[in-house]
Amino acid sequence: MPKLTIVNRAGDEKSVDARAGVSVMEVIRDNGFDELLALCGGCCSCATCHVYVDEEWTGVVGAAGEDENDLLDSSDHRGERSRLSCQIMMTADLDGLRVAIAPQD
Ligand code: FES
Repeated sequence: MPKLTIVNRAGDEKSVDARAGVSVMEVIRDNGFDELLALCGGCCSCATCHVYVDEEWTGVVGAAGEDENDLLDSSDHRGERSRLSCQIMMTADLDGLRVAIAPQD
């Protein structure tokens, strides 16, 4: 089972098991990180699931899609490593992925 490391807003991190085919947002929520609001439930319409992907993983995770990109533009905290975690599906290739929860807008 791929591992995902999550860093919360306080800088604390935790590595958790993540089933392949489940979004990074769902893994974060299922592991008790309630600071990730994910208000739209993963429909790519709220941007409250914003995370920063560790630099070494950005190439593997890939770029944001068009809708995701537009939503990220609405965030004051957008950076080069920004992604919406509901749009990243866990796969075996992402074993060891590390993401940090972005500040709340
Ligand atoms: S949960 Fe709303 S955009 Fe990701």
